[in-house]
Amino acid sequence: MLNIVIFGGPGSGKGTQSALIAEKFGLEHLSTGDLLRAEMTAGTELGKVVQSYISQGNLVPDKWIINILSKTIDSLKDKNGVIFDGFPRTIAQAEALEEILGSRKKSIAMLLDLQVTDEVLQQRMLFRSKTSGRSDDNPETIMKRIEVYHEITAPVIEYYKNKGLYQPIPGTGTVEGTFAEISRCISNYK
Ligand code: AP5
Ligand code: MG
Repeated sequence: MLNIVIFGGPGSGKGTQSALIAEKFGLEHLSTGDLLRAEMTAGTELGKVVQSYISQGNLVPDKWIINILSKTIDSLKDKNGVIFDGFPRTIAQAEALEEILGSRKKSIAMLLDLQVTDEVLQQRMLFRSKTSGRSDDNPETIMKRIEVYHEITAPVIEYYKNKGLYQPIPGTGTVEGTFAEISRCISNYK
């Protein structure tokens, strides 16, 4: 069982790398951003509630995120493990994840931190905004997402460093180069 957190600023490549990791190592890819966008598209109550948080670049309150995550975890097919993409994003979420996994006799093996400068994050998201159709891919919200990342999300790094689970990954190279580095880390662990 291999449970991994993929971490990094908005646009750092979490989704791109998660898809590759899921395929190569047989893990389930669990992206809270994708789950929330699916709720918005389906027009559910939760989807309506989270819409304004997302389009303004703010985090959705922990209670809803933790609720949707614990529900989803139990619905996953039991693969070799899970790659958590975009979660945890607050210390409260990190603690909740530990509890949710702990009660199922599971734990996090490592946090892979994709390190990308703010300038590159901005460029990637602006480029993607031409085709993504995401309500948060616009210059104003992109700036806000980066700000929220530094203020609220980055402190989660310390939480995993203290547990000896932190693994920095240079994220400004090519998709393939970054994936090769990630694959090395995971293979070393296994
Ligand atoms: P979420 O969906 O998680 O978005 P994000 O963190 O802002 O990040 P992105 O999905 O935009 O980027 P990514 O890191 O996945 O990179 P990608 O691979 O796409 O969250 C959205 C919102 O939902 C949040 O703002 C919040 O409101 C809410 N939310 C979600 N989770 C939450 C939680 N746990 N708590 C509270 N609120 C939550 O790559 C980006 C672009 O770069 C792509 O175009 C890609 O093709 C390109 N690219 C990738 N790698 C490279 C590379 N190496 N070189 C060049 N281009 C690259
Ligand atoms: Mg993503």
